[in-house]
Amino acid sequence: MRILLTLIKLVLPVVVVSVGFFLIMFFDLFSSKSEAVNPSEDALYLDSSQSIEARVVDLLSYMTLEEKIGQMALVEQNSLEALEDVSGYKLGALLSGSGSKPEVNTPAGWKDMIDAYQAQARSTRLGIPLLYGSDAIHGHAHVPGATVFPHAIGLGAGNNPKLVKAIAQATRDDLLLTGVNWNYAPNLDQPRDIRWGRVYEAYSDDPELVSKLGVAYVEGLQESPEENKISVLATLKHYIGVGSMAWGSSYNKDYKIDQGKVEPNEDLLYSHYLPPYKEGIDAGALSVMIGLNSWGDKKMVLEDRLLKDVLKDELGFKGFTVSDWYGVHEGRRNIFWATVTAINSGVDMLMLPFDYQKFTRHLKIANRLGLVSDERIDDAVGRILYAKFALGLFDDIEESAIPISLVDVEHQALARQAVAESLVLLKNEGALPIRNDVRHIRVAGSAADNIGQQMGAWSIEWQGVDGNWPRGTSILDGIVARAPVGMKVDYDLLGDFATGARKADIGIAIVGEPPYAEGFGDVPYPILYEEDLQAIKNLQATSEKVIVIIVSGRPLLIEREVDSWDALVAAWLPGSEGAGVADVLFGAKPFTGTLPLPWPRTAEQLPLTAEGETADGTTVLFPRYFGL
Ligand code: BGC
Repeated sequence: MRILLTLIKLVLPVVVVSVGFFLIMFFDLFSSKSEAVNPSEDALYLDSSQSIEARVVDLLSYMTLEEKIGQMALVEQNSLEALEDVSGYKLGALLSGSGSKPEVNTPAGWKDMIDAYQAQARSTRLGIPLLYGSDAIHGHAHVPGATVFPHAIGLGAGNNPKLVKAIAQATRDDLLLTGVNWNYAPNLDQPRDIRWGRVYEAYSDDPELVSKLGVAYVEGLQESPEENKISVLATLKHYIGVGSMAWGSSYNKDYKIDQGKVEPNEDLLYSHYLPPYKEGIDAGALSVMIGLNSWGDKKMVLEDRLLKDVLKDELGFKGFTVSDWYGVHEGRRNIFWATVTAINSGVDMLMLPFDYQKFTRHLKIANRLGLVSDERIDDAVGRILYAKFALGLFDDIEESAIPISLVDVEHQALARQAVAESLVLLKNEGALPIRNDVRHIRVAGSAADNIGQQMGAWSIEWQGVDGNWPRGTSILDGIVARAPVGMKVDYDLLGDFATGARKADIGIAIVGEPPYAEGFGDVPYPILYEEDLQAIKNLQATSEKVIVIIVSGRPLLIEREVDSWDALVAAWLPGSEGAGVADVLFGAKPFTGTLPLPWPRTAEQLPLTAEGETADGTTVLFPRYFGL
């Protein structure tokens, strides 16, 4: 009997929902629950002198269920079946996922593409403009010509909030020129394991430093000349605990640690994970991206306590939450239930990124069946509209000019300064700075003449472009340009210089990692490649002293080699302005960077604890904030 009752309890809701599902599909899907009320030309929501809160309430009062559902959808632009789907489905937001670009990848191509989408959105009954998002995480780096700034880890090493704010302002200007009004940055993750492929997207593993730079970035990106307005919407990501996933726990079968499990820990939640969010929210951030990680066994998008009670209530977040990529669909096996549960758990906007038709159908049915309430939908949509009003999207609809180029010497100078400030001198036995009386330098290594490698991923393509991308200055170019007259600079990728000849005074090995993004960068042993190790050896055989410069997204395991090097510099992923490295090597600027996270000695030390202690109790190679 008990078994029968349990069976009925389990099966009955599924049957009821399925029957309802089909009835609604066939009879009701295309009819509106409420009659559309058209606003007058002087509707309150169109009046920029009214408060944002009042404008949101007014606009919501005209919206049909379909219009509200459309606002909750964030669609990858490449997956649109037709341009008209923007208006047809009343979509609220589009994005260019990393590497997704207009047919002609130029600033004008971006502007034209986004303008066409906006025109579609504005042509709808209520004329609600789109949010258009992109991952300009180190400059508007998917657009050729834009300055590519150092990845966040380098800015963490620089530890200069003023500079980070200026970089965010430069990024904002480039985004605005191309019509992008939403950036998926700053990243507030706190990496504790260098085996993870996203270490470089984060500033540091120290919540204080993350908070300080995160706030500076939000301020720079959102800052607007108009009072109570923001220029480009910032996104705090990835909520929450990301960086503390366990090795081998990834939900994604191709990854190891990215999208993995974080051990729930209330102390760490409040001492480490939440503070940067609290500060970012207080600085005015109006969107938060929910991580692809799990909190224990629960996917983050289903963590209703952390999304609702903690983020929205305790931290007082009045912006909207957005799921990351397939995040919502991964919440549960059945995507209808996945959608329902994620929205009820507090996800306001769903990055779909492809399945928008199904989503709009599912949410409509869920609402009709009472599975997602009108109040929950109004709350989500109200939050999204709040951000749109704050951006002034309803107010400044003057045509802006089509940009010709994003090449900007001021941005380049800023990036060059950031590169110089990001360098961390970890070892120096009389090799640095390079003196003017040095006669002969030999340069080798995979990252010496490889702008693609020094930019890292999230540049033009998601996984980056390995090779000499024509826009920018390689580290080698910078060295050649800095070397005074009479100082000879030779270069060979593998350091294959004739042995037996006179030794050069200095060898510079510029070595590191090829670009990678997300779980594709999860590796059990982050070490230097054989070719680079050989290039270092070759230089040691043909130069009096060898300086090793590591261009990488994370500390690498170098314990076995480092003793034989005369100097060691961590250069992280400096971006397009490699000349900043030479500025410091030659002493025109001092070394000021410090390690934004500890540099482990062995893989057995991983993961580190929040306090920077190793798993096996041994000491790291260099502690956090070390730098000569
Ligand atoms: C990443 C996010 C990113 C999003 C949109 C996801 O794969 O995890 O950081 O913002 O894609 O491109």
